[in-house]
Formats: sequence, structure tokens, C-alpha cells
Amino acid sequence: RKIFVLNGPNLNLLGTREPEIYGYDTLDDIADRLEDAAQRAHVELDFRQSNHEGHLVDWLHEANEESAHAVLLNAGAFTHTSVALHDAIKAVKVPVIEVHLSNPHTRETFRHKSYVGMAAKGTIAGFGALSYMLALEAALEL
Ligand code: DQA
Repeated sequence: RKIFVLNGPNLNLLGTREPEIYGYDTLDDIADRLEDAAQRAHVELDFRQSNHEGHLVDWLHEANEESAHAVLLNAGAFTHTSVALHDAIKAVKVPVIEVHLSNPHTRETFRHKSYVGMAAKGTIAGFGALSYMLALEAALEL
């Protein structure tokens, strides 16, 4: 079984990016923690980050073509703008779990709409790096 973990724009800057909101863990720290949990569960992880919307669309297609077990998707700001990601999630069979470090509903109103969440299997948000661990746990149960 293989699970893709796809991260969108600015998440490469985690650790120094608004740490009061996103915490001090870097994306590599999160990847390491997830990798440990995945190994214990005997699943393979493919952890990626891109600042480019089209890469995320391509990777959703790739996860689907590889018959991945699930995709964990933190689309960053594209969450709130991307009809293309919405359509890609709708277009594929692989279940997609929306992940956020922060809770967008407690923040600016422009973060209250999620094109990703409207198409995803479910959403985990607001628990910092732990959101990814909880999403992995949910994915393993699917
Ligand atoms: C985020 C929330 C988004 O609103 C924001 O644009 C991000 C990070 C999160 O993980 O909390 O880049 O997806």
C-alpha cells in the first residue's frame, strides 16, 4: 500500500513561516514523523511539496494511476482558490484527505471556503503537525 502526501505553496518554508500560526516544525520534521508512523504500519509514503498548482494536479493523477491507497493533501492557499484541484479530486478514484496545520475557519474569511474540502473524503485541520499524523491514521482505516 502506498500513500501520497502532497503539500502546496509556501509549505517548504515551514519552521520559519509565521511560526505562531504554523509552529516550529519544518516540513522535513513532519515528513520524518510521518515516515516513522508509516513504517510501523507497513505502508509506503511518497511525500512531496510544490509551489505550483499544476504539479499538484499532475500528482493527484499520478497517485490515481498508481492505485495509491489514499492522498493526504495540504494544498496551502490553493485550497481557497483552486477549481482545478477541486476538479482533479472529483476526477480520481483515490480518496483524498484534506489536511491543514491551522484551522482556517478561525482565520480570515477568505480562508473559510475550501475548494479542496468540497471534494475531499474528509478534513483534518487545526492540530499543527499532528494534523498530518491524524490524517495518516484516518487513511490507514480507509
Ligand atoms: C494551510 C492553511 C491555508 O489557509 C494557508 O494558505 C496555508 C497553510 C495550513 O496548513 O494551515 O498555506 O493550508
